[in-house]
Amino acid sequence: MKNIIFILSLFLLVSCEQSFSLSVQNINDEILENANDYQGDWLTYGKNYSENRHSELNLINKENVEDLELAWSLNLNTKRGIESTPLVVNGIMYLTGPWSLVYSVDAKSGELLWTYNPNVSKSHGEMACCDVVNRGLAMYKGKLYLGALDGRLIALNASNGQVIWEKNTLVGLEGSYTITGAPRVFDGKVFIGNGGAEYGVRGFFSAYNAETGELDWRFYTVPGNPENGFEHPELEEAAKTWTGEWWKYGGGGTAWDSFVYDAKEKLIYVGTGNGSPWNREIRSPGGGDNLYLSSILALDVKTGQLKWHYQTTPGETWDYTAVQPLMLADLQIKGKNRKVIMQAPKNGFFYVLDRLTGELISAEKFVYANWAEKVDLETGRPVETSFARHINENVEIYPGPFGGHNWQAMAYNPNSGLVYIPAREMSMQYGKESTFEFEPKQWNTGTELVPGASGKNNGNEILLDSILKGESYGKLLAWDPVKSVEVWSHKQDNVWNSGVLSVNNMIFQGDAEGNFVAFDAFNGDQLWSKNLNTGIIAPPMTYMIEGEQYISIPVGWGGVYGNGNKHTEQINPGTIYTFKINGQGKYPEFEKALKKSRITFNTSMSMDDILHGGQMFSIYCSQCHNLGNGGGTIPDLTYSTETVFDMYDNIVLKGVFLPKGMPSFKDRLSEKDVEKIKAYVLHTASTLEP
Ligand code: HEC
Repeated sequence: MKNIIFILSLFLLVSCEQSFSLSVQNINDEILENANDYQGDWLTYGKNYSENRHSELNLINKENVEDLELAWSLNLNTKRGIESTPLVVNGIMYLTGPWSLVYSVDAKSGELLWTYNPNVSKSHGEMACCDVVNRGLAMYKGKLYLGALDGRLIALNASNGQVIWEKNTLVGLEGSYTITGAPRVFDGKVFIGNGGAEYGVRGFFSAYNAETGELDWRFYTVPGNPENGFEHPELEEAAKTWTGEWWKYGGGGTAWDSFVYDAKEKLIYVGTGNGSPWNREIRSPGGGDNLYLSSILALDVKTGQLKWHYQTTPGETWDYTAVQPLMLADLQIKGKNRKVIMQAPKNGFFYVLDRLTGELISAEKFVYANWAEKVDLETGRPVETSFARHINENVEIYPGPFGGHNWQAMAYNPNSGLVYIPAREMSMQYGKESTFEFEPKQWNTGTELVPGASGKNNGNEILLDSILKGESYGKLLAWDPVKSVEVWSHKQDNVWNSGVLSVNNMIFQGDAEGNFVAFDAFNGDQLWSKNLNTGIIAPPMTYMIEGEQYISIPVGWGGVYGNGNKHTEQINPGTIYTFKINGQGKYPEFEKALKKSRITFNTSMSMDDILHGGQMFSIYCSQCHNLGNGGGTIPDLTYSTETVFDMYDNIVLKGVFLPKGMPSFKDRLSEKDVEKIKAYVLHTASTLEP
């Protein structure tokens, strides 16, 4: 008997050994398709092609999680947001940081092995609506694939970070495009899209040959000028749903985040973004659904031919992207096994669709939403509220442009049958911009935004839940996708929290206050927590080396909300923290930031000039800088020193802080303009508490 056990354990050891010998070199389609057979590794952005971010590893579990301690940490010496999901194979971790940097790290010791810097021009930073972030890499047959902020798709040698090939995905295209998303490899092709719809671009995504970098096919998500013909037949159909001269503004529909793959059906699924400009009145003045904005697209992986589409928000006008993480699962619904695709996009409805046919199975609100009463399951269309389209008057709409859920990863645990969504309750007041002038390098939303949560709602009192009035908060939500109901939720004081990891029967998430927390997947009880002193936005992940399980979380506050807000005393440099049971790692110590005080000297400029300065501030500066709240990763200008105020021209026009990511505005602003902006900042400071 003993012998049999010995032989059995030897066999187990050997099979473990086999999965351990996996390396980037031998990762191929079959391994990626069966990524769940390699639980000790994390081979692709969402863990597997279904992107459910669920790990079956169970060495860290409810019984011992209280002994989860730091194993190692690594300071990445960066300042801006970290949204990356690390990949791990063969004991090596690969992740990305701000400005599209790549790091290779010994996943057991935390030793940095190599870094790669694509040297993105710092002047490209101003084209990034939502911070100079990057969400991660893909790996395949010895290569790592990186989408760089400036639009390059780069294949690196995974063993040393050397460039194998590099393609500019934006050849022949104009506009403020950026790449922040993680490439995916399906069927030997690398898939990548881009962002930029805030500025005015035309959305598309492409499939490149993973080996050679040659463009295989490309799908434009919105039609261009019909006079120039259509790149593919789907666009002819789409053009019937647009009016006016949308192509002058790009149209939008950027695919900046989600790509999943059903390898059996050879179908890829892509989420598309908002309209450009946001306000449909401007981009398509005669109305129309504006395909394929805010849609889930299913395409043949070989040809790029559209099999079906589902538009979550026809005639999108609230920045309701549908690029939020897509997830595949097999669910028992009404006694039938359904192959589904699920999404919790910005618009606040949780969608379950048959992923083979595109049939809408269910769509229910997962957060408070007042732009639509419901989604009609017969027609598949939302039933909009009468005030939703804010034509001439400001109206408070839930959710706002941060979305009921944004890019932060969700997870699905097949044991609990629940989807875990890093959601938020938050509104915005939308109004039509009184004058709209298209400026290619600036935000062109055509929408006047006033932070919401004021309770103002155009008199439609009944639709506004009184509990929500005047309140914004985050919530980790456990959602039953079969019954379309919330099972539990955990309320968070702040709206910008991290993506989630499902591991065994626990859910891990980080929050804006730097707490890294484990919850019971079934009832939401808090099981464990550590404070890491800097807000967390990237999702945690887990892996195993030599029989020990690790949980890793890259910490680096930022993103579109983090640029101008923070909820910790200071923001420390980007750092990876990795935990294991009884880890003995030492927490890093960071220099204490100098205490800043608000500037107090006055300005002698006239009120007219100050107001003009305020208008310019809102067009050119407010996308990154906040005034009055202490700022986020980008400083609050009312706290600058006198020296900084003395050198405004140098900073704003001559680009002396360009290496720090502060753009130069010499092509757009004059010295006189800068004086007015400075006066506005000083005036604002004088109206605030010291
Ligand atoms: C794309 C984002 C972005 C935009 C738009 C932007 N800035 Fe900045 N700004 C930055 C960054 C990044 C820094 C450097 C932060 C640091 O110190 O690391 C900075 C720094 C500054 C500083 C120095 C602050 C200090 O106390 O050190 C001033 C002044 C400034 N910006 C003014 C402006 C003005 C005026 C505008 C509009 C005309 C503007 N910025 C627009 C990103 C931006």
